[in-house]
Amino acid sequence: MQLIKTIDGLGMVLSIARSEGKTVGFVPTMGALHEGHASLVRRSVSENGFTVVSDFVNPTQFNDKTDLQNYPHTLDADCRLLESLGADIVFAPSVEEMYPEPDTRTFSYPPIDTVMEGAFRPGHFNGVCQIVSKLFYAVCPDRAYFGEKDFQQVAVIKAMVEDLGLDLEICPCPIVREADGLALSSRNALLTPEERKIAVNISKYLFESKQFMEGHTLAETRSFVIDNINKVEGLEVQYYDIVDADSMQSLANWEDSNSIVGCITVFCGQRPVRLIDNIRYKGKNAVR
Ligand code: PAF
Repeated sequence: MQLIKTIDGLGMVLSIARSEGKTVGFVPTMGALHEGHASLVRRSVSENGFTVVSDFVNPTQFNDKTDLQNYPHTLDADCRLLESLGADIVFAPSVEEMYPEPDTRTFSYPPIDTVMEGAFRPGHFNGVCQIVSKLFYAVCPDRAYFGEKDFQQVAVIKAMVEDLGLDLEICPCPIVREADGLALSSRNALLTPEERKIAVNISKYLFESKQFMEGHTLAETRSFVIDNINKVEGLEVQYYDIVDADSMQSLANWEDSNSIVGCITVFCGQRPVRLIDNIRYKGKNAVR
């Protein structure tokens, strides 16, 4: 495995891989890797001749400076994990390498990117599209792998790929959870042991809502999740929306769509740590 820090260096190694007829799988990450990322890398390694993983904390997608400052950086540990998983390249550029000039491009995919994360983190998806498009241009992957924990992000990236006419396959991958149900996230590393204990209530009430939905309206199910999580001291729901899984628009009734997902963001603890998760009510998530 090679650690590469420049776009030119990346291009040289990739052209050799391509000249050998290898397909290129790509896993974009912001580092602080965990088993969720590992599952994406394993899938890429199993489906492609060559796997590139980017490890770059992208400043343009953080609308909150403190959030950016607190974001964990663990490149050495990330490289050890990636080597053991069989990745071929870790691409870990500097901010100057990715943004030699301020990126003034704007990306807008309403209504997908205007709600939920789009509404609560203004500019977030624009920053995600800026970096992911730059990475796609640098890597030119055949396939790119994204976790469904960031359910709305996957929809925005699919819209961007179509908009830019890029010839690559977006491969959504299932959420990976701790044994107790908490969705894996790099931000979990920021939780104190006490906060980690209460954070499990997020997935607990999402799972319970799958039973609760039987015989209850969509509005009642939404309230069930919000009210129960808000009752836990140290947790505060920022939003919980039950949406159409393609358009990301809030639904009024279970009958309004055949593909329904509930997407939640919760503040946990003193700092607080912002945790996201989602649950499928109708239709199918990615399977593997
Ligand atoms: O999901 C993430 O970790 C980031 O948003 C991504 C896709 C790597 C872009 O910085």
